[in-house]
Amino acid sequence: MSKIRITSFFQEEHTTPQRGAPSAWLNSRLAYGNLVKKASKGADQAAFARRDYPINYDDVTLPPWLPPRETVTAMHANLAPTVNLDFLDGYLFRLLQEIVEQRGVEGSGFFSYYNSRIERKLGGLSELEHQLALYLLAEFADRRVVHAGIGIGTLASALTCNGMKVAGVEYNAPRATSARQIRASLIAVWPEIEQRYEIFQGFFPDCLLSTDWFGQDAVLVFTNVGAGWDDVALDTIIRSMSRYGEVILDLRLFGSVRENENDRNALFDRIATIARSSERLPQIAKGAHMARFSFG
Ligand SMILES: C[S@@+](CC[C@H](N)C(=O)[O-])C[C@H]1O[C@@H](n2cnc3c(N)ncnc32)[C@H](O)[C@@H]1O
Repeated sequence: MSKIRITSFFQEEHTTPQRGAPSAWLNSRLAYGNLVKKASKGADQAAFARRDYPINYDDVTLPPWLPPRETVTAMHANLAPTVNLDFLDGYLFRLLQEIVEQRGVEGSGFFSYYNSRIERKLGGLSELEHQLALYLLAEFADRRVVHAGIGIGTLASALTCNGMKVAGVEYNAPRATSARQIRASLIAVWPEIEQRYEIFQGFFPDCLLSTDWFGQDAVLVFTNVGAGWDDVALDTIIRSMSRYGEVILDLRLFGSVRENENDRNALFDRIATIARSSERLPQIAKGAHMARFSFG
């Protein structure tokens, strides 16, 4: 039985995909996401995960912008244990569209923050999430990750799809529900994710206190948590850091928005005094002010 080679079309036709690229590339990403989702329904999941699941074309509606059936012959890298982040970007984008159709911009917890990814056709993963996922996968492949303030879990998806054990914490109920919906959709394609991705609804760190999601083998990550912590919450969160081996955060968006470099340096110094070592990570993404603190 023939297999679908989605990657060859993708690589040959679009060797340097860019976020926000014209519709041909975007459409092909969406088409792949739809195709995989559709094909995964009723599939032998173990065979699907091994990448040898034969797809019956009669069950799949190919959009007109996909190349003819005979040139689409074997799905490979996208379904391997390591999941290409550009592929995931398109898959998540389709999921985001579905969620907002079902539950609305407010009911889904998307608000303008996530809805702009749909309206502006940006994709499911932000540039920062993409770059940070690559960094975390390269530096901490054997560690667990706690993402505090997970939103709807797009960064967590990139990590768990690539083998990391992840706990996501989110206190906004509609966003936590959307994160669970995305998790369920990922599990439908990659069943092994069920064992390695947990979502907790509540405030970090309090809602993890009775769990085993502390430890020197874990990396604590914060992205884009720029609003909502008072001094007590900020103090509690900073004190919780020593219970982790490593902490990665954006100095600009951490409990409040620090537009001023002096304020970012003050936060860096405050955490650095309790950490074993600390460094700025300007290479992760332009415009972000990522920093790493080691406690282990
Ligand atoms: C602007 S969103 C960003 C989501 C995601 N981190 C990202 O970078 O796309 C920030 C989210 O963090 C959540 N949040 C902030 N502080 C939190 C805390 N201490 N515990 C749990 N959730 C938190 C908020 O509810 C919000 O959904």
